[in-house]
Amino acid sequence: MQKIAVLTSGGDAPGMNAAIRAVVRTGLYHGLEVFGVERGFSGLVNGSKMKPFNLGSVAGIIHRGGTILHTARSPEFCEQAAQEKAARRLLDAGITGLVVIGGGGSFYGAQALQDQGIKVVGVPATIDHDIPGTDSSIGFDTAVNTILDAITRLRDTATSHERIFIVEVMGRESGFIALAAGIAGGAEAIIVPEVEADLEKICRRLLEGIARKKTHSLILVAEGAASAYDVGETVHQLTDLETKVTVLGHVQRGGAPSAVDRLLGSRMGAAAVELLRRDSSGLMTALRDGGIVAVPLAKSFISGRVFPKDLYELSQILAR
Ligand code: F6P
Repeated sequence: MQKIAVLTSGGDAPGMNAAIRAVVRTGLYHGLEVFGVERGFSGLVNGSKMKPFNLGSVAGIIHRGGTILHTARSPEFCEQAAQEKAARRLLDAGITGLVVIGGGGSFYGAQALQDQGIKVVGVPATIDHDIPGTDSSIGFDTAVNTILDAITRLRDTATSHERIFIVEVMGRESGFIALAAGIAGGAEAIIVPEVEADLEKICRRLLEGIARKKTHSLILVAEGAASAYDVGETVHQLTDLETKVTVLGHVQRGGAPSAVDRLLGSRMGAAAVELLRRDSSGLMTALRDGGIVAVPLAKSFISGRVFPKDLYELSQILAR
């Protein structure tokens, strides 16, 4: 294999740039030509630039959030005609290997490209942390830290006014972000899609806390579980307490990547190139017990990630 390409797909995640940089520099180190495809799969299909990369192309990006290659959600890529067009474009340019940095949906597209004769390796990157087969994905750590920063600020004002804050976080259909940020941020309650919420019980706990002279409470709601506005309204009705709602939204996706995500991006990007060099395909780089291993790409979209019930139970014991 002489020429490989890299693209980012789906929602951006802090640390994607570290992964791009690692793909480029590892590829160049081994004498490969490395190209960057702009705007993900839709860019590949619709003729966006395929930039030849040199060492300098990826200088000064490891600390930057987002992705220098831009990204897109590409529903049209589910169609075979689009997959064939994309593969043809790569093969016409002499590119036979592709690193796809993204989430489960992106890997579904990657797998389809493999069926068209391209060797593909996935690098898991999504703040949602919902990809099975890997202990973590690029971007999750930074997003959780961003939420913690927001929670810390909200606590100051919540305490001053003795209010209840309901904070909605991302995660799509999963509650991994809410659970991690809720435990690390000491939330009084965490509402996730994986476990049915008992709002009456939560309200009883809030009132018990107030009786113990608690000056504020914070409820973390995963977007896939409920709307923070609905939760705030119900809590107000059940307790007669004042509630304030904050929806953190895309703030959670931006910002400089944490050291954890820069390292993960660097390690996984390099590992992806090593896999392509060995002519492997249909694999995803994964973090397992501290090491980077390769797992079947299909694992990432065939089933969902198992929700850590033990961690949820811990959150119930600690959140008071
Ligand atoms: O997958 C990452 C994510 O941020 C989800 O948490 C969220 O539901 C979704 O993307 C938002 O997507 P978009 O930026 O396309 O609105």
